[in-house]
Amino acid sequence: MRKPIIAGNWKMYKLLADAVDTALALKPLVANATHCEVVIAPVFTALKTVADRLEGSNIGVASQDCATQNSFGALTGEVAPAMLKDVGCKYAIIGHSERRQLFGETDGSVNLKTKAALEAGLKAIVCVGESLAERESGNAENIVGGQLSAGLSGLTLDEMNRIIIAYEPVWAIGTGKTATPAQAQEMHSHIRSLVGKDHGNDVAASVRILYGGSVKPENIGELMSQPDVDGALVGGASLDADSFAKIVNYK
Ligand code: 13P
Repeated sequence: MRKPIIAGNWKMYKLLADAVDTALALKPLVANATHCEVVIAPVFTALKTVADRLEGSNIGVASQDCATQNSFGALTGEVAPAMLKDVGCKYAIIGHSERRQLFGETDGSVNLKTKAALEAGLKAIVCVGESLAERESGNAENIVGGQLSAGLSGLTLDEMNRIIIAYEPVWAIGTGKTATPAQAQEMHSHIRSLVGKDHGNDVAASVRILYGGSVKPENIGELMSQPDVDGALVGGASLDADSFAKIVNYK
């Protein structure tokens, strides 16, 4: 049985006070959500305060990115996964399409970041997804497969057990255009079979695959009813505590 994960990616939104207010408003609204893991990913500057204020709750905190190494060094602007663990993070989102498109993230850096996050004791939420042009040209499965095998290359079985995959079709992010449940299921099932080929059937059966892209209270139920959809990575609809709580409490 795979325990679903509902994760909110707050992207570059919210000053500290707003981040804390939203996290504290969310806390009682999801306190009874034992059917899934609940995760929020505030900006770096809010991580410690939010994690401190959520201590003892059922909400875990994720970073939205991390450095490729844990050893300290002259790497201006970077934050090591060990530093994120140190301030209370339990997860790191890695390889989000916005980082790939806007900040030069590559499959190679995704792989290094994933290994570094796992080494620090974080769970890695590794994002993959195709663009609209890639889908329309019939290449979606190849693109996602390539991102997946490169991003997770060289991981041990033990490390794979702390991997979470997020499938986020770029054309569905922030566009209001959700993949249909059937499209999500098709790609999730493809991803699971690729994980099976690369890392074995046990890992494939247990790895959680989240869907992301215009997830809202109105469509979460149908998405979650698909057999290979194990949760969601939510952007816009996670910024408001009530709306995110409705998604968490989809059951
Ligand atoms: P939206 O839910 O705003 O489409 O964003 C999805 C996303 O990128 C989550 O990481």
